[in-house]
Parts: sequence; C-alpha cells; structure tokens
Amino acid sequence: MTDILYVNGGRPLKGTINVRGAKNFVSKAMVAALLGETPSVLKNVPDIKDVHVVSGLLGLHGVKVDYDVEAGVIHMDPSKVESAGVTEIDAHAGQSRIPILLCGPLLHRLGEAFIPDLGGCAIGDRPIDYHLEILRQMGATVEKTEHGIHLKAPKRLQGTKIALEYPSVGATEQLLLAAVMAEGITELSNAAVEPEILDLIAVLQKMGAIINVDADRVIRIEGVDKLEGYIHCALADRIEAASWASAALATKGDITVMGATQAEMMTFLNVYRKVGGKFEVLHDGIRFYHPGGDLHGIFMETDVHPGFMTDWQQPLVVALTQANGLSIVHETVYENRFGFTDALIKMGANIQIYRECLGNRACRFGQRNYRHSAVISGPTPLHPADITVPDLRGGFSHLIAALAADGRSTVRGIKLIDRGYEKFREKLAALDADIEEG
Ligand code: EPU
Repeated sequence: MTDILYVNGGRPLKGTINVRGAKNFVSKAMVAALLGETPSVLKNVPDIKDVHVVSGLLGLHGVKVDYDVEAGVIHMDPSKVESAGVTEIDAHAGQSRIPILLCGPLLHRLGEAFIPDLGGCAIGDRPIDYHLEILRQMGATVEKTEHGIHLKAPKRLQGTKIALEYPSVGATEQLLLAAVMAEGITELSNAAVEPEILDLIAVLQKMGAIINVDADRVIRIEGVDKLEGYIHCALADRIEAASWASAALATKGDITVMGATQAEMMTFLNVYRKVGGKFEVLHDGIRFYHPGGDLHGIFMETDVHPGFMTDWQQPLVVALTQANGLSIVHETVYENRFGFTDALIKMGANIQIYRECLGNRACRFGQRNYRHSAVISGPTPLHPADITVPDLRGGFSHLIAALAADGRSTVRGIKLIDRGYEKFREKLAALDADIEEG
C-alpha cells in the first residue's frame, strides 16, 4: 500500500461499516497474557499496526502468538517467556508506547525488563515519569542508558500506596499490571477509570486477580501468587466509532457504525446532539447522520473519563468548521493537540488557537506556553489541499476534511492512520467515498 491518498471530496459518506475491539484496550490485554501460567485467547481484535507491533514484542519475549487476522482472534501462549536481546527490542523503538507496559509482567516473570525509546503521536511530550515512579516504589531499580531504560527487580515487587498527580491512563495500567502479582496490597488514588481500563480489570479478574474499584478514583489490588490465562472479547473502539460519526457530520452523510456501543459513548453522544447531529442507537451499533439544516457552534472541554475524550476532539473539530457561529474547544489532556488545525486553516477553516484556558476551569496547561484552546468560527467551506498527516487522530481529521472539501485533495503520510483505523480505505470505499491510492 502506498503512503498517499487522493481524495475527491464533497460527497456525503453514506453506508454501514463495522468497528472491532478498541486499540487502546487490545494492546494492554495482550500484555496481560504475559502474566498467565496458561494460554490466553483475545477476540474481536482489529487488524491494525499496533496489534502487529505488540505481537512482535511478545514473540521476542518467547510468547507463542497465533493471530487469525480475519477472525480477529489471537492465541497467546506465555509458557516459555524469556528475556529478549536489547538490539531486538530496540528495533521496535519509536513504533509504539506499549513496551513501557511490559515492565511489570516481565519483572514478575524474569526479574528484569528493557524499554527502548518510545513511539506514539506528536501531540505532546508524553513523559513516563509516573510509570517509572510506580515501578520504583514497588521495589524495581531503574537505570537509564543511551538506548533506553533497564529495570531490575531484585525480589518480588511489593504492594504500595500511590497517588497520581493526574489520572493517567497508561500509569494506571502500569500499576494494575505490576500490582496484581505483587506482594501485599496496592492502593492507587486519582486513578484513571476509562472503559478500556475497566475492561483490562475484567481480564485480570478472569485471570485470578483481586481488584476493587472504589469511589473517588481509588483502585485497591490484593496481590496473588499466580494467574491463569483468559478468554475475552474486547470492548468496541469508541474512538474509531466517534471518528466515523464526525465524518458523517462533516460530509453531511449518514453512517451506521456496527459494533459501536452507547454506554461508552454517552458524553460524545450528548455533544453530537448539541452540535445538531442525529443518532439512532440500534441493537448492535449506532447510526450517525446529518439531518440537514444548520449545525450549531458549541463549548466543549476534553477531560479524562467520564469527560469528553481527547481522542474524540480532533475529528469533531472538522465538523465544527461547518457549524454556525463560534465553537470553543479547551484541550486539557495533551498540551499540543491542535497542530492538525494548521491544515484545516490552509483549507479555509477559521480557527484561532490560544494559550489561555478558554474553559470552565484552569487546567494544567494554563499560564504556560501551550496553545491548547481553540476558537472555531463557521461555517466555512473547505477547499481541497495537499496535506500531510501529523499524527493518528489528527491524520484521520485531515482525511475527513479532504472528504468534506469540494475537489481533489492529496493526503500524504496516510500509513500512520493504519496504526489505529482498521481497513479504513475499504471502509471509505464502502461509504461511497471517491478515493485513489497514490
Ligand atoms: N503523563 C505524565 N507522566 C506520565 C504519564 C502521563 O505527565 O508518566 C501525562 C501525559 O503527558 C498527558 C496526560 O498525562 O498529558 C495523560 O496521558 P495518559 O497517560 O493518560 O495517556 P497514555 O496512556 O499515554 C492513552 C492512549 C491515548 C489517549 C490517552 C488519554 C494508549 C496506547 N494511548 O495514552 O491514545 O489519548 O490515553 O485517553 O492507550 C490515540 O489512541 O491516538 C492516543 C493518543
């Protein structure tokens, strides 16, 4: 597949597509399989690049991975877990942020772990200080070297009491994967409680873990001596579903997303309705459509769950360029998630980005040099352009903008989108988009 897509936009996207398991859950559930003494089976797995990267990493550590891509089923046998060579792991450097989550399981199984320089999206610094602090507090030693970070656990990891400065998704998962087999009780306050995390907790419970999610973001884990494998069907990808929903709105289309679930998308659905989008919750999916007439500008702030997900923000902003009046979007999760708007402005959108917190509350990024609030004034027709995908979600937003713009756009760097959107070219074709591979 090539890295360029030509998009003849200005046609409504119409039809039915399917979403499978959530990218941000599947990779973590795959890591959890390392903790079991017996094989695990994960179902509803999407064919996205991140899954192949994690399969490769597990394989390097001696896990036998059988992946039936079409059926979306992965069998993982961790009975022969071993240390991988630093050079082999290093070959994965820059491809994914998942290696950091292998630490807890590898420290339990082998007493050591190595993390190469991490990849991910260009949306902020994305530090790993919380992760390392958790592992240190549980008794691991951490040594930074030129290529990455070496960790060692001279003895079994120890339960501890930790409060996160911010409810980080990755740090909460780090703690879960390390604490389930640690000695004694671990208590995490200010934990993230995203649906993907609750599904990971469900997986760990199936494996034999004891985890309580208490009120006020407190998670308590009682360490156990051993865990078994699991059989689990991944929850649906609510980020992909919302991306298609925004595409329906921006192109004046009508898209039924099979597999999408209401409970995990409540906050998105409320905002969608306020903008003027319509949706219909079906037995096994959700239909999203533009009802005709005007869309409305809104005020919106991203937040941790149950707030409006940061990953929903970028695709929706494209639809907001087509809404009447002003929209204000305050991004409070990542400090640098509006870089993608440069391309929208080039295409005719009227968007101003501010350093101030234009929201109900001051966030961590206020009074600092982070351009993290956007004011969008619409509606403005979008013109075709030659654009380059900046990151995963920003990239999908560029694609939506090109689909909404009347005329032929060139979208470069399109392979980045394969990291998180399964078969998006086929799905676009099924929705009657006029696209050509470059
Ligand atoms: N943070 C720190 N120190 C840390 C960890 C996080 O300061 O050690 C900060 C981050 O810099 C950020 C905030 O905490 O400002 C939230 O980061 P979080 O740890 O919650 O994010 P993550 O675990 O790295 C996951 C998803 C992201 C998603 C966020 C928020 C995966 C693989 N990634 O990232 O997904 O945006 O949670 O929901 O699960 C995507 O799918 O495109 C994507 C970026």
